This record gives sequence, structure tokens and C-alpha cells, in this order.
Amino acid sequence: MCGIVGYIGPKQAQDFLLEGLATLEYRGYDSTGMVVIGEQGPRLVRSVGRVESVKRDLEGDPLVGSYGIGHTRWATHGAPLERNAHPHPDTNREFFVVHNGIIENYQVIKADLQKNGVQFISDTDTEVIPHLIAAEYRRLGNVTEAFLSAVQQLHGAFSIVMVSTFAPDTLFAARLSSPLVIGIGDGESFIASDPTPIMEHTKKVIFLNDFEAAVITPSEHVIINLKDSSTIERLPQVLDYDPDVAVLGDYPHFMLKEIEEAPQTVRSALLGRLRTEQNLVKLGGLDLVEEQLRYIDRIVIVSCGTSYYASMVGEYLIEEIAGIPVEVQLASEFKYRNEPLSRSTAIIAVSQSGETADTIAALNKVAGYGVLRLGVVNAVGSTIARMTDAGVYCHAGAEQSVASTKAFVAQVSVLALIALNLAKNASPLYEELIKELDNLPAKIEKILAQKQEIEALAKKYAHHRDFLFIGRRYLYPVALEGALKLKELSYIHAEGYAGGEMKHGPLAMIDENFPTLALALDGELFEKTISNIQEIKARGGPVLAICNTTEQLEGIADDVLVIPRTIEQLQPILAAIPLQLFSYYAAIELGRNVDRPRNLAKSVTVE
Ligand code: AGP
Repeated sequence: MCGIVGYIGPKQAQDFLLEGLATLEYRGYDSTGMVVIGEQGPRLVRSVGRVESVKRDLEGDPLVGSYGIGHTRWATHGAPLERNAHPHPDTNREFFVVHNGIIENYQVIKADLQKNGVQFISDTDTEVIPHLIAAEYRRLGNVTEAFLSAVQQLHGAFSIVMVSTFAPDTLFAARLSSPLVIGIGDGESFIASDPTPIMEHTKKVIFLNDFEAAVITPSEHVIINLKDSSTIERLPQVLDYDPDVAVLGDYPHFMLKEIEEAPQTVRSALLGRLRTEQNLVKLGGLDLVEEQLRYIDRIVIVSCGTSYYASMVGEYLIEEIAGIPVEVQLASEFKYRNEPLSRSTAIIAVSQSGETADTIAALNKVAGYGVLRLGVVNAVGSTIARMTDAGVYCHAGAEQSVASTKAFVAQVSVLALIALNLAKNASPLYEELIKELDNLPAKIEKILAQKQEIEALAKKYAHHRDFLFIGRRYLYPVALEGALKLKELSYIHAEGYAGGEMKHGPLAMIDENFPTLALALDGELFEKTISNIQEIKARGGPVLAICNTTEQLEGIADDVLVIPRTIEQLQPILAAIPLQLFSYYAAIELGRNVDRPRNLAKSVTVE
């Protein structure tokens, strides 16, 4: 999604704007721009190029001034062109606005402004905002009142930041439902779409909530309730954030770095929570709701994309270990269902970014239902983390690559802990699961040591146009996740299927050009997966099998990759690693932009 940054203080605003936008590049974008206001007045630069190219253009001719805003745009209304890039000015270049999200009633406002002679230049919904603020300023004569009055006329899901030549050293911000965080520095203030760019400068932050605005100077920040214009008192919070985690280091891509962090990711998810010597699980984040959890007799998990597939593993884990019925639903579908939800139902929102609009909307839907809302979130302090009654952070550290990898590993680990926590030692699997969770990091290391073997397999198969992934039970969600990884990174058409479904249709697709990646790990369904492989081979389909032993597979599968054994309930964590590496190397083989695949964004903050 779009990235927003803003600075105000004693330094040159351009420095933070450029650095901040570069940090937000992982969110995906197709154009960028910034405006800085100094003694010579405002200077606006916008480009369809990368932030890097704007930085080069400014080397000889920097933007001079102590306050400004910047933006990376992910096109929703209007093609990626210079005139559609943000910041958007009003006609007299006295108000400049950057925006993330969608203004749903922009056509009505635009028609009204055009009736009053306003000329529009762009094809965007955003451009109505500076013109509307300018019109309100002419009517009210005060920048703050004009800003608030204009924002209160906008409908949609958005966040905006504005600067004006009439309000030196002041940033104006408003959030309806797209994240904005204010950084409180020493005599300087920052604003951004997420904490990442701010953390280098200050860890004291204030998150704006829905329907809130802020008037920010280098030393003050006034927060205003957009519903009644009352002032809100809110103390800054201090985020514990390790900027090193977000630095690429000598890796070629964030994705490879984050895949290789998987052993540490599991350790961090378990740290302080898995007490093997006491044979128990302690989830401090659920202490507040421990009493309510006793009466939960149904769980609905809502999530999207990779988090949805991690949630599907969580469904099997919680049902098998804690004996509570679970239903996983796509957040984008859940919010439109009219299903009965009793007060003994708990909703768990699983999200890496904690800012996914569909998942937020799903939680908003049940806000008044009296159901318990829990979060399994990675981004500390994110919207979902703050909306839910309680939750368990993933502690995976910043995930920069658009393709979610270590977050999947962290989410499944946390969902296993939640299953154990709910089981209260009542499950026969309890002890074995606790012990085996502790063994996972070492086993992941062994798989990572097979990188070259996996790279060779990816190169061998990368030029196929279609791919099938199959798995059964705990490995069925992994087949879906593996297909998503290959799709989003290499752009190859890939489908994930439950192995048992092959004879109900997919087998018709199979021929020598349609390879299958079969998850054939040891377990009660191993033999059935072998049968699937034989059915596929009988139709000439190439098969790459991920397995624990080559027994029964040699002479059947065209290629095998042997990975360490673990108990069936934790196989998804180990099986995901080779699939992540396979899609990573396939994408490289095909020359794709690994960390920023086309058309995708890291945090999908629009519905
Ligand atoms: C996964 O690789 C994708 N980046 C995408 O499907 C992602 O998992 C989905 O958008 C959900 O994001 P979230 O976990 O931040 O809510």
C-alpha cells in the first residue's frame, strides 16, 4: 500500500523524507513524491521512478526547508503518472496533501468544486482534498478549522497528511482507517504510515486511531476527535524495536534473509512461553482473558493470504489438542456472512502486519457482539493488536519482503502454543508437542543447509507454466501456501489441492508439462499420498516429492527432497521452508523482483 512520511523540526526535512520513503519501499509502490516548505516557499518533486532516482535528482539541487511530507503511491485511482503522484497541491500551491486509502465520495466533491471553477489536473480521488481544504480556508480563515472541516466531509478508508504555506512548521494529519503513527523527537516531530522509518530517530510514538486528527509542531501534538472535534489526551508509548532486524545486511534479498531467520523466529515465538521443564505453556498475553477462555466452545479464525493458511494449520492444532471446534474464514468473506455468533465464540485475527483492511473490517463487524477478540500479530502496536481484547505477539521481527515467510513459521508456532494453552495439559499430545517444538530450530537449520539442492530443483522446474501442490491433513494448508508463494514470486500459475481431491477433477490437468510438488512426509496418510503420486505418474506428470525417506519414492517420483522428521502436528513448519526456498529460487531464475513482486503490496490496507 502507499507509504506516508512527514517531518517537522530544526533539520532539513528532505533527509528524513527520502530515508523514510526508502524504508517504506517494501510496501510496494509505482510512483513517489515529496514537498518541502522553506523560506523560498514550497518546492514539490514527483516521479514515476524509484525513491532512489528522486534522491539522485536532488543531489545537486536539494529541497530546502524544515517541514515537509513525502509519499510512495500504489495506484488505485489513476495510472502511475507524474500528475497522479502525491503530494497533490491546490491550485495556488498553498496546501499539499498525501493520502493512503480511498475517498469513496470524491466524485460528488469534485463536481461541486468544479462547479466553483476549480481545475483538476490528476485522475486521482486524492486531488479533491487540497482543493476542498483551500475552499474551506477561504470560508473559515483558519487552517486547522479548514483542515478539520474538509476531512469531516470525506467518506472512505484513508489516512492523510497535509502541510500549508499558511501554517509554518505545522503538520496536519487525519486517520479514518489507515495507519498513521506520530514520532515524538527532541524538538522535532515525525509522522509515517508505520513505525519503521521513525524508529531510527525516536521510539516515543503515538498511534492515531480511527476518526482522529492531529496538529503537530516540532514540540507539540494536539489530537482531535473527528466526530465531535474534542481534544484527546494521549501519552506517547515507547516501542521496543531493533532497527538492525530491518536491515538487509549482506543478503541479496530480504526474502532470503527472512527465510534464514526461521530458526530464530521459532525460538523467539517460544521464548518465555514454552516451559519444557515444567511441561507447560505460559502466554502472558492471554492472562487478561483467562477466565473468559474457560467458556469458549467455538473459535473462528479470520485472516488473509499466508496468514489464512497458517490459520488452517491452527484449526487442526486447536481441534486436535484442545478439542475446541474451530472454523477458519477468509476475513474478506467473514465480514459479509450473516452467521450466528454466540458469546461463547472467540474470534482470532491472524495477521503479520496487523494492518490488513479485510481483517480489521472482520474485527469491526463483531465489535458490538460481545465476543472475545484475540490477535496473533507480528507488528507490535499495530491496529489489529490494539483492537483486540488480548493476543499473542509473534515476535518474528520486521518482515520486509512482500512474500510472507518467517511470519508463517511464527504464526504456526504461536497457534500451537495457543492450542497447548487451551488444552491445559489435557491432551495426550501435550508433552510430545512441547518437546518437539523445542527441537524445531535445529531441524530447520538442517533444511536451510540444503539450499543448493533446492535451488537446483527450482531451476529445473521454473520454466513450467503450471504447477500443482498436494498435501493431506496438516500438509494441505502447506500445499496451498506453497502454491501462493510460487504464484506471487514467480508469477507461475500454481494451485494447491488436498491430495484426496485429485480424482475429483485436478487429475484431468496432468500431463508431462504439468509438474506436481507432493508433500509426502511420514504419517498416517503417507501411503495415500504415494497413491496420488502413482496416479500422477501414470498420466506422465513430473513429480517432485518432499519426504522424510526416499523409501517407496525412488523409481516413482522424478525428484525427491528429504527433510528431517517431526510429529505430524508440526510438519507444516518444516515443510514450509523448502517451499519458500523453491519459490525464491524459481523467481530468481525467472528474473523476478523477489522482494517486491509486481502488483502486490506488503500490507494491504484497502479492502
Ligand atoms: C503472503 O506472502 C502475502 N504477502 C499476503 O498474502 C499476506 O499474507 C496477506 O496480505 C495477509 O497479510 P497480513 O498477514 O499482514 O494480514
